[in-house]
Amino acid sequence: MAKKPRIVIIGAGMAGLTAANKLYTSTSFNDLFELFVVEGGTRIGGRINTSEFGGNRIEMGATWIHGIGGSPIHQIAQEIHALESDKPWECMDGLSDELKTIAEGGFELNASIVDPISTLFKNLMDFAQGKPTEDSAGTEDVRYYNFAAKEASKGCTSNGGFGNHSVGAFLRQGLDAYWDSSKNREELRGYGKWSRKLLDEAIFAMHENTQRTYTSAGDLLTLDFEAESEYRMFPGEEITISKGYLSIIEYLASVLPPGVIQLDRKVSSIEWQPEGHQSVEMANVFDSRPVKIHFCDGSVMFADHVIVTVSLGVLKAGTCQDSGMFNPPLPFFKTEAISRLGYGVVNKLFLQLSPTGNRKANVTDKFPSLQMVFHPSDSDLRHKKIPWWIRRTASLCPIYNNSSVLLSWFAGKEALELETLSDEEIINEVSTTVYSLLSQPHKEVKSNNSHEFCNENVKSIESSSESEVRFVKVLKSKWGSDPLFLGSYSYVAVGSSGADLDTMAEPLPKIGSCESSSVHPLQILFAGEATHRTHYSTTHGAYFSGLREANRLLQHYHYVGNLI
Ligand SMILES: Cc1cc2nc3c(=O)[nH]c(=O)nc-3n(C[C@H](O)[C@H](O)[C@H](O)COP(=O)(O)OP(=O)(O)OC[C@H]3O[C@@H](n4cnc5c(N)ncnc54)[C@H](O)[C@@H]3O)c2cc1C
Ligand SMILES: *[C@@H]1O[C@H](CO)[C@@H](O)[C@H](O)[C@H]1NC(C)=O
Ligand SMILES: *[C@@H]1O[C@H](CO)[C@@H](O)[C@H](O)[C@H]1NC(C)=O
Ligand SMILES: *[C@@H]1O[C@H](CO)[C@@H](O)[C@H](O)[C@H]1NC(C)=O
Ligand SMILES: *[C@@H]1O[C@H](CO)[C@@H](O)[C@H](O)[C@H]1NC(C)=O
Ligand SMILES: *[C@@H]1O[C@H](CO)[C@@H](O)[C@H](O)[C@H]1NC(C)=O
Ligand SMILES: *[C@@H]1O[C@H](CO)[C@@H](O)[C@H](O)[C@H]1NC(C)=O
Ligand SMILES: *[C@@H]1O[C@H](CO)[C@@H](O)[C@H](O)[C@H]1NC(C)=O
Repeated sequence: MAKKPRIVIIGAGMAGLTAANKLYTSTSFNDLFELFVVEGGTRIGGRINTSEFGGNRIEMGATWIHGIGGSPIHQIAQEIHALESDKPWECMDGLSDELKTIAEGGFELNASIVDPISTLFKNLMDFAQGKPTEDSAGTEDVRYYNFAAKEASKGCTSNGGFGNHSVGAFLRQGLDAYWDSSKNREELRGYGKWSRKLLDEAIFAMHENTQRTYTSAGDLLTLDFEAESEYRMFPGEEITISKGYLSIIEYLASVLPPGVIQLDRKVSSIEWQPEGHQSVEMANVFDSRPVKIHFCDGSVMFADHVIVTVSLGVLKAGTCQDSGMFNPPLPFFKTEAISRLGYGVVNKLFLQLSPTGNRKANVTDKFPSLQMVFHPSDSDLRHKKIPWWIRRTASLCPIYNNSSVLLSWFAGKEALELETLSDEEIINEVSTTVYSLLSQPHKEVKSNNSHEFCNENVKSIESSSESEVRFVKVLKSKWGSDPLFLGSYSYVAVGSSGADLDTMAEPLPKIGSCESSSVHPLQILFAGEATHRTHYSTTHGAYFSGLREANRLLQHYHYVGNLI
């Protein structure tokens, strides 16, 4: 009697559970497959990890539905009523109304200083992403922005053909062009040693830092310019999920019978048969299933098809040495794509404000959505006590209107450093930073006339004797050092391209090499966010990739089924 094909999905994150859900719901009526999801961790969800902090529902990983129009995640969230809240959650609703931008030294920057640079940055990114730029006001500034974007793009085309132009270089060319075209702007007074140009640059850098967390490219000079315009977002609002991102995962998993998902089953290597069976004996050794999965506990499992959904970071680590995850090693075209694509670290830090202490001031009852503008790295004007790992963090914001829980995002080296720090170190250094921003202009950067200009809100915080900002508790993610993830999400690095994302998705053995009848087709399939050309780095990208690989197998067996 012929055995049912066995499909083993490695990883119970969004991609793996979507594939399992699709395979199971499409075939449960005829019980076509034996299906397993093996997960190295002790929970499902992968880079989705809804948690709790200070009585609030918060997300350690995936946070936003990036555009609700047409998003399958949004559709599920609506169907299962996951958008209705039963307790406070991370919704970031105060963001737009309450932004307060403060430059190092304690100088609050009003809209007339911040907005031109924010608009410049936004227009440059829109240009890089191939979106039409807003031409609303028709003001002089709009001319600058368009000019800047065009000038900066010239830099790219002159470098074109090589395809190694970066978003970071483009942005800086845009800023230079903006300065060139707006030379005669009035110098600022009353901002200590901050000149107009220094402030422009530092505000620009703040936006770059936000972009680093969006893309996970620790350095925007490594983010490929060409590929930026291939990335797709859904239209509409970006929202968080009140019942938690995990509710989507639980819904997908809920259809699977007990025993399908196996937790704490970390795969150490995958043996496969690119050349087919050498002999009948070999075939028997392999139980007639071509793939042999080895687990860290020494156990093994045979399969006809494996869907690998581990992160790009895990693949990078598992394919760089001989002692790799695949035996025989993955073919060159695969390992090249894996090594060329970018995969960075992004972490979230939650801090709970002390209910007393800073609150006695009766000013910080409502902590502002704070945008932080720091001196550039080469500046000797830097406040000595603000640590380097906070200096590339763009904001510190309450997780909802009036929440006493604040959130910051970190990327790159800074995100990795955060993982190594103790709670106490974090509390001390963030407090020092916030205090120095919310206090009056600091002595080191105080200019002779700065006292005349200091901002009223800043003054009122300073005037309280209890003005030091205090935190009682912190929670941070550690995606970079967790061996099951080794980072946060993928990006197209300079030297790579969208084609590499397509290559990531190709099943093995490579199509065409299966003509020899002894080679089993579709032994190793690949899903996960890093296998989607236009929606990489997102939960819906992972979702689409899971559907894609489930459909690939369904199609494969549908064809065989017709023959019988
Ligand atoms: C901080 C952060 C913020 C984010 N914010 C957003 C956001 O706002 N919006 C958005 O859309 N996306 C966001 N993302 C990205 C999103 O979380 C991911 O793109 C998506 O969840 C990836 O799903 P996946 O199934 O591809 O991979 P994963 O979720 O990584 O699933 C892979 C699974 O494989 C398991 N595994 C790894 N190695 C092994 C092994 N050897 N054996 C067995 N199992 C193994 C892992 O434990 C994991 O469960 C964010 C991610 C992070 C880290
Ligand atoms: C998930 O979040 C909890 C905090 O609530 C944390 O203890 C755990 O380590 C996190 N898991 C991962 C894999 O990040
Ligand atoms: C948040 O609070 C402010 C007043 O402090 C108010 O203007 C704003 O509308 C509130 N936003 C939401 C989403 O409730
Ligand atoms: C911003 O500050 C400038 C001078 O520093 C002032 O002229 C302008 O009115 C202020 N704008 C707002 C919106 O407060
Ligand atoms: C990449 O770009 C730099 C200039 O930014 C150029 O000097 C270099 O030759 C390019 N490399 C490749 C491989 O195209
Ligand atoms: C805080 O301010 C409000 C008015 O804004 C006032 O009614 C209240 O008494 C103040 N509380 C303290 C402790 O000063
Ligand atoms: C938030 O706090 C402000 C004052 O600090 C208050 O006016 C407002 O009503 C509060 N909003 C909510 C939603 O609690
Ligand atoms: C302040 O002004 C004095 C002279 O008026 C000058 O010597 C000094 O350098 C100035 N200090 C700063 C910090 O600008």
